[in-house]
Amino acid sequence: MIHLRKKKIDLERLPRHIAIIMDGNGRWARRRGLPRSAGHAAGAENFKTIVRFCGEIGISYLTVYAFSTENWSRPIDEVDNLMRLLEEYLDKAYTELDDRVRVRIIGEREMLSEVLRTKVEKLEADTAERTGMVLNIALSYGGRQEILHAVRLLAEKVESGTVKPADITEEMLSKGLYTAGQPDPDLIIRPSGEKRLSNFLLWQAAYAEFWYSDILWPSFKTAHLVEAIAAFQKRDRRFGGV
Ligand code: IPE
Ligand code: IPE
Ligand code: MG
Repeated sequence: MIHLRKKKIDLERLPRHIAIIMDGNGRWARRRGLPRSAGHAAGAENFKTIVRFCGEIGISYLTVYAFSTENWSRPIDEVDNLMRLLEEYLDKAYTELDDRVRVRIIGEREMLSEVLRTKVEKLEADTAERTGMVLNIALSYGGRQEILHAVRLLAEKVESGTVKPADITEEMLSKGLYTAGQPDPDLIIRPSGEKRLSNFLLWQAAYAEFWYSDILWPSFKTAHLVEAIAAFQKRDRRFGGV
């Protein structure tokens, strides 16, 4: 099955870094007359399938948007439910994930509960030496907040006199981002019909290709990912050139 699907894409020219905004869980549930929590549970299951598939076809970096800084404004019950799902995922991730996957959590970790933060740090440490796909989970993540964080690090260097403002480069700012050392996303995918970034990877998205779809995240299958990659492979990326 996978073999058949793979045929549609050139495995030699895969996007090195794919980023996905996992949106549409709530609408998926509502259409089925289910509570939003059922949508999040289905979305979490789908996330595992997509991670596995990306590892199998040879994607080097996968970043998923799981919870934004703005999502803290949701009703407390929903936030609790999402945090519980994340905790469950982190508990099982080490044994369930392909043993080559390295996990990184990007976002404001100081916003997470101590229990969650400990689990996050343990999973990162346990998978740090792995050499396969890097899986970035964006958790309490906001692109503006990330840039602000990087700017503060630079400001400290300026204040201490180690760097002059005129000498600040793009590379120096990139080094202060949560994704330091990683390539920028080549392809950003947003299911659910929305056509916006919602504060996702603002700096890193400068030259990313976008792919949108009306499919809601829990229904987003590997076949849709193949479709997105196939579309990506037909694009002409010019990076401002001719
Ligand atoms: C994505 O689904 C999950 C999170 C944002 C945490 P939503 O919960 O945003 O689902 P919709 O957009 O309401 O359908
Ligand atoms: C973006 O989805 C965040 C995640 C998928 C984690 P939202 O549902 O929060 O985005 P908006 O509110 O539609 O912009
Ligand atoms: Mg949404």
